[in-house]
Amino acid sequence: ILREIRDMCLKSIVNLVKSLCVSIVLGTIKMLQFLLSIKAARPPKIHLHNNQPAMIESRNKKKVKESPSIIQHKERGNRCIANDTVLELMSSPDLLYYRKLTTVDGCYHISCLTSNQVWVSDGHNLILTNTKGFPLHYVKNLCSDLSNGLHTVNNEGELIYIDKDKNINKLSTDMKTITKFIKRTNSRWKPQCVYLSPFTGDLLVGMYREKPRTGKVTRYNQSGQETQTIQHYNTGRGLYSDPIYITENKNLDVVVSDNNRAVVVTERGGRHRFSYTGHPSGSGLWPCGICTDTLSHILVCDGYSNTLQMIDKDGQFLSNLLINSKKMGEPFSLSYDVNTHRLWVGSWDSKLCVFKYITRQGDLTDENTQPPLRDALSSSTQASEFAWDFMLTDEPFHYTLDREDIL
Ligand SMILES: *[C@@H]1O[C@H](CO)[C@@H](O)[C@H](O)[C@H]1NC(C)=O
Ligand SMILES: *[C@@H]1O[C@H](CO)[C@@H](O)[C@H](O)[C@H]1NC(C)=O
Repeated sequence: ILREIRDMCLKSIVNLVKSLCVSIVLGTIKMLQFLLSIKAARPPKIHLHNNQPAMIESRNKKKVKESPSIIQHKERGNRCIANDTVLELMSSPDLLYYRKLTTVDGCYHISCLTSNQVWVSDGHNLILTNTKGFPLHYVKNLCSDLSNGLHTVNNEGELIYIDKDKNINKLSTDMKTITKFIKRTNSRWKPQCVYLSPFTGDLLVGMYREKPRTGKVTRYNQSGQETQTIQHYNTGRGLYSDPIYITENKNLDVVVSDNNRAVVVTERGGRHRFSYTGHPSGSGLWPCGICTDTLSHILVCDGYSNTLQMIDKDGQFLSNLLINSKKMGEPFSLSYDVNTHRLWVGSWDSKLCVFKYITRQGDLTDENTQPPLRDALSSSTQASEFAWDFMLTDEPFHYTLDREDIL
């Protein structure tokens, strides 16, 4: 009996050791597989500047401590306090996504709704499109005689746009109800561009009047009440002549692309801070699409040089973020996604791109950790679209239409 017990004990010890060995081996294999899959899942890195000397000027890495601030989370319709993370400019922007849209005749203005859906307008149509260029919704009565910043999105994800009769409308998030938010009451002043401040909830409207040609900015609060007009220098001279795009900086400065060849920036109260009239070389500026980023830069498309210029919050030229290339077309419209820090760029000839140019310090996809792909712009369409799709896999599309949208 003793011998039997001894044998049984030995057997179970051997079995135990065996299964331990097996699970260690299996565990290691699983771990390796997991690590490999993480590596494979990283989107390919697209380096625009290879063989593209025109792409970038700025080589200076600038580190900026992002102060805790209110950042909107449009996707969820609420706001939260941003993480105190160190963000920095990348030495060159990465193209994440590129597509030529067939649904619009030019990307004259973009309003980012979520990280994969944007409102895009040409001179006549306003379309909600996803990253595959698939139209998800059309708005019919857009103001059609202008190619300006005609729309914006509020913190709840509702679209606000200028219609044919120059009223400012709001489209509900279910895309069903259009309400008149601000009715046009003065026939001499024509609203030309809108921006909804994520910080104050106010609507900033750039207005234009003919004879004499002049402009102003009107601020409306959340109930649609006019609360401020910005129109003059303290000398009494007019600040604007033809505001075509409008935005706001993090310090609540009001930033306007004025058709009269300048970016005009006033402080929250309306006092003129500076006008940016182009690269220090004196090449002039024809400002079009404009936006600001989380580092308080002002980004503006210049219709003269077909560049996308970055200036600081005080009007100092920093760099050309993008320069016209055949593939990219002429950058014309901009929208900055505060949640992903990605920049949407639209061109005259309907190209829509997404760039990453700001990164978190120590980000996994940092530039040095991935070998650059060859000549990105000529071969990137496939790769970057793949990357984009891949990155979005944990974000379900909201529209059934997407399932039919096969590349
Ligand atoms: C801040 O962000 C980092 C990286 O995204 C994250 O690991 C950390 O938990 C965040 N901290 C807070 C307080 O949200
Ligand atoms: C908007 O402004 C009007 C007039 O100043 C004021 O009565 C109203 O309470 C304001 N609404 C909000 C939401 O601030």
